[in-house]
Amino acid sequence: MFEQIPTIKRKNEFATRTSHELRRDIDLTDPENKKKLARNIFVFGQCMEGTQFYGLFGMILGLRRQKKFQGIGEMFQYTLRDESNHIEVFRNLFMDLVSENMEIWTPEFKEELVETMKEAVALEKEFISDCLPVSAVGLNVDEFCQYIDYIADRRLEGVGLNPLNPGVRNPFPWLAETIDIKKEQNFFETKVTEYQKASALAAVSDDDL
Ligand SMILES: [Fe+2]
Repeated sequence: MFEQIPTIKRKNEFATRTSHELRRDIDLTDPENKKKLARNIFVFGQCMEGTQFYGLFGMILGLRRQKKFQGIGEMFQYTLRDESNHIEVFRNLFMDLVSENMEIWTPEFKEELVETMKEAVALEKEFISDCLPVSAVGLNVDEFCQYIDYIADRRLEGVGLNPLNPGVRNPFPWLAETIDIKKEQNFFETKVTEYQKASALAAVSDDDL
């Protein structure tokens, strides 16, 4: 699907484009490289995981809310709670990187990041339209697109950037409750062995990463 379905292919290209510029031997004393790193953290944390993930996950959880696909719905609920931790980690990394290197926090760089989020939102809306060619089983394409606008603006504000659609309303307050409450049920907190250690990646080339 990454190669055959155009809307998925474009999302994949968007997510990998920025990271392809990064290499582990990058000179991080160079302000342009600092920007590349910050932009990469922003793309993965706030655009991809923080905004685009919420399109598909929201649709699956919308079905679960109607008692359909209960098992996979529960799996996605746990996954999305885990993602909310990743988003916050990426947000903190980004904020620290900027506050320690204020020379990169220029109006031009801020504008570049907002434009990047704009592209992420457009790609996700195309994908949602592919998934929901007609509004049926209680899933409405316009509402999901508005939800993406709403989530994207929360991510932008979270890192001190201006929202794209000020005042946009969350059409799915139930989804925030599904994701945010009862975090003590998050079983990922007790088991983090799934992640590879950095040492295991030492022999892997940057291109393979
Ligand atoms: Fe994640």
